[in-house]
Amino acid sequence: MSVAKKDYKRITTKSLIEMKSNGEKISMLTAYDYTMAKIVDTAGVDVILVGDSASNVMAGHETTLPITLDQMIYHASSVVRAVERALVVVDLPFGSYQSDPKEALRSSIRIMKESGGHAVKLEGGKEIKESIKKILHAGIPVMGHLGLTPQSIYKFGTYSVRAKEEEEAEKLIEDAQMLEKIGCFGVVLEKIPADLAKKVADSISIPVIGIGAGGGVDGQVLVIHDMLGMNNEFSPRFLRRYLNLYEEMTGAISQYAADVKSSDFPNEKEQY
Ligand code: KIV
Repeated sequence: MSVAKKDYKRITTKSLIEMKSNGEKISMLTAYDYTMAKIVDTAGVDVILVGDSASNVMAGHETTLPITLDQMIYHASSVVRAVERALVVVDLPFGSYQSDPKEALRSSIRIMKESGGHAVKLEGGKEIKESIKKILHAGIPVMGHLGLTPQSIYKFGTYSVRAKEEEEAEKLIEDAQMLEKIGCFGVVLEKIPADLAKKVADSISIPVIGIGAGGGVDGQVLVIHDMLGMNNEFSPRFLRRYLNLYEEMTGAISQYAADVKSSDFPNEKEQY
């Protein structure tokens, strides 16, 4: 599906909740720059996440920890300039909300004012409840993120599936219900068993968007570089690759380099 210009209604947090209650699945993808965001929006994706995965795929860091609030605002403002339909959700980066609720609010206000994003996303459950409440009280929509939370990678020590044990699964359900109760408009569940994710989605009325959480949830999110096959080093089981852009782009770029070397490019029609 692609959305013809003006043949759309802007997606809001309210429309996402309505989509869940109507049984309509929600599509979400990351984007970090103007050109990619324009393509994703035109293709009809409902939610664009300016994820802190920009730290990995845009900047080449091993984890999401190094990306700064200023860098997230730069990426988000480029995305917002391109988008006409999708809801733009922006990740609060590591170190911009964990200290205390006032810091969380200050960082969220900067994102909303300086990037024009529509909502923020934070990783964590009851540990950051007061911060989420503070942001919500300021009128800023919040999306939660539970399960594998990459900002805590040094605590987990691995990117493997979370909440396989009963204690962690129970905490995750409680956290998701708490996020709904305090007023979040949605929650991302990353890399948890499909049965647990479905149980969470069935137990709350706000949309649950999964990544590596099976098909029983209300929508799906992927990192755009992964689903377009731009990065051939990352192949978790949950990933479906829709293109192999790594090969396509390498082929096109080597052809260009060869054409320049052989003086094939530019030809007579490609000059003034
Ligand atoms: O940063 C990100 O891209 C994310 C998704 C993996 C959900 O948080």
